[in-house]
Amino acid sequence: MTGAAGRAGVLPLYPQPGPERPLRGLYLDHDLRGSGGGLIYANFISSLDGRVALPNTRGVFGVPAAIANPRDWWLFQELAIQADSVLVSGRYLRARARGEVQDLFAAFHDPRYSELRAWREAQGLSAWPRVVVLSRAVDFAPPAGIEASRLLVLTGASGAVSAGAQRLRVAGAAVIAAGPENDIDARRVRGVLSEAGCGLVYAVGGPQVLHLLASGGALDRLYLSLAPQLLGGERLSTLVEGDAFEPAPVLRLHSLYYDQTTHGAGAGQLFACYAVGEAEDVRERG
Ligand SMILES: NC(=O)c1ccc[n+]([C@@H]2O[C@H](COP(=O)([O-])OP(=O)(O)OC[C@H]3O[C@@H](n4cnc5c(N)ncnc54)[C@H](OP(=O)(O)O)[C@@H]3O)[C@@H](O)[C@H]2O)c1
Repeated sequence: MTGAAGRAGVLPLYPQPGPERPLRGLYLDHDLRGSGGGLIYANFISSLDGRVALPNTRGVFGVPAAIANPRDWWLFQELAIQADSVLVSGRYLRARARGEVQDLFAAFHDPRYSELRAWREAQGLSAWPRVVVLSRAVDFAPPAGIEASRLLVLTGASGAVSAGAQRLRVAGAAVIAAGPENDIDARRVRGVLSEAGCGLVYAVGGPQVLHLLASGGALDRLYLSLAPQLLGGERLSTLVEGDAFEPAPVLRLHSLYYDQTTHGAGAGQLFACYAVGEAEDVRERG
């Protein structure tokens, strides 16, 4: 493993407690590719008081530095490397172009993750995933280092006929209207992704994207790292941002691990994975 993630193990707590096992391979062993086609899975790290993003000293929102850590980041890469498609927001691509945010595509090119790329190659997967972008504004350029032909942009009807959409199409990207006006219709997301052959989709957007996916029945698993810290702060993002869910979806604990070595002696973070809805239950029984 990259030295950053260290050698210490994690303790499985659920469904089968213990024994300690290596961090390395933890989420590769979830065998997402074996779970049958178009699983859509998201991943967040949160503080105990529910902060997933806070403004930094320049006022730019991002993952709070106090909770970001290499062991969680390693698992992020293990989830990324299994995906056929990585789903981001248009806002993320604009922030990436300004150099303001972490590189969510690191697994596919960063030297620290070469062993994960070797794993990907051994599965017969393409070196790079498809990049799915959810956007109203459609005002971003194809991200540096990623071929435009890998981009699939989902937007509303107006975004799909915008000048930005036209520029992206000329560059080689696909732009699809998945809603009648400005917004993507959440209920159409799973169908559009499936028709476009997006396969296993790793959703790494933020709270609005998670809300969209969950409200549209387009989320199968939520990976959630819980850092044992209280952060406070009055401007903040939590896991989801949007209207109240009605009814509120119930998530089922799929697995839970205790990582003793992060955040100081014995403090520990938790790596949880929740399954959402019936589709995941059926896959697991099948
Ligand atoms: N702690 C964590 O694990 C974690 C994980 C992910 C993100 N974050 C943080 O969360 C913050 C926000 O992340 P983010 O900007 O990637 O995600 P986001 O807030 O979920 O995405 C917002 C963008 O998604 C698009 N969008 C949302 N709803 C839409 C709809 N109905 N139809 C069409 N497009 C829609 C819009 O893009 P356009 O503006 O292009 O129209 C919108 O600006 C960042 O600070 C990030 O660092 C934290």
